[in-house]
Amino acid sequence: MLQIDSTKTLLNGIEMPRFGLGVYKMTDSKQAVEAMTTALRAGYRAIDTASFYNNEREVGEAIRESGMNRQDLFITSKVWNNDQGYDETLRAFEKSLQLMEVDYLDLYLTHWPKPDTYQDTYRAIERLYDEKLIRATGVSNHEQHHLETLFAKANVKPMVNQIEHHPYLTQVALREFCQSENMAVTAWSPLGRGRALEDPVIVKLAEKYRKTPAQIIIRWHLQNDTVVIPKSVTPSRIESNARVFDFELEQLDMHMIDTLNRDERTGNHPDTFPYDDPRYNR
Ligand SMILES: NC(=O)c1ccc[n+]([C@@H]2O[C@H](COP(=O)([O-])OP(=O)(O)OC[C@H]3O[C@@H](n4cnc5c(N)ncnc54)[C@H](OP(=O)(O)O)[C@@H]3O)[C@@H](O)[C@H]2O)c1
Repeated sequence: MLQIDSTKTLLNGIEMPRFGLGVYKMTDSKQAVEAMTTALRAGYRAIDTASFYNNEREVGEAIRESGMNRQDLFITSKVWNNDQGYDETLRAFEKSLQLMEVDYLDLYLTHWPKPDTYQDTYRAIERLYDEKLIRATGVSNHEQHHLETLFAKANVKPMVNQIEHHPYLTQVALREFCQSENMAVTAWSPLGRGRALEDPVIVKLAEKYRKTPAQIIIRWHLQNDTVVIPKSVTPSRIESNARVFDFELEQLDMHMIDTLNRDERTGNHPDTFPYDDPRYNR
């Protein structure tokens, strides 16, 4: 039975929480710390950040403020595009640790597969793993062809792929590929950045199960075996998004949500990411 502390066993045996808090766009420092501590109080055990989100310092503050043991939490961060490369990634990782004031991360990801650097970046992530500075390796926004390129040289296969995934972008082929390689899939923008919440099918299911549209979508992800990291800065939503372990969607209803797919992205496609766009360079 799924519970708030249910985990996915990664390739190396590490247990990764199935449910956590995404913290993208939490830019107001006080609000970010409050959101994260509210989540930890509500039972969330995972936080998904990135150097690009500019709130790693706040993640560290929230961990300390929560009074929880570091080993009871699962903290993910990511190396940003213009920090990629072997030495650069090692330096970026060190900076993330310093900002959070922690001495290891649970998971560290290549944020996007920047064509000229993603292979060296992953080699650096493997080194961090060998040095026991991270408990698991992974990538984000990697398509099958990126993964196959990495597999050809990797000593340690990436254990997680974090991809955009919600009812309007179900990513069936990529998820099946990851599953066949025993990689966990984390769904980013699991609510479609809020856009999928007003879909009439989701709204109808919310009425049927007496749940919120967000709870319906989060439950759909959980029953689909993905790791899910909804973001909210609103305390009542943070709490209600976690109340998804007391009901189960019937198979037919799961299927109804599957059919909402439109291959519609809220973000960039990994193969056409505008790496040279100054908006994405820090
Ligand atoms: N790897 C990557 O490239 C990548 C890219 C994007 C995101 N991510 C990760 O994935 C996480 C989640 O994705 P996301 O932040 O883009 O989008 P999301 O979780 O799909 O949606 C967040 C939006 O939904 C709203 N929301 C949350 N719960 C709600 C509820 N119960 N009712 C109504 N509205 C609700 C939030 O509003 P309020 O905050 O105002 O409450 C926010 O506007 C990120 O925070 C980040 O950690 C990774």
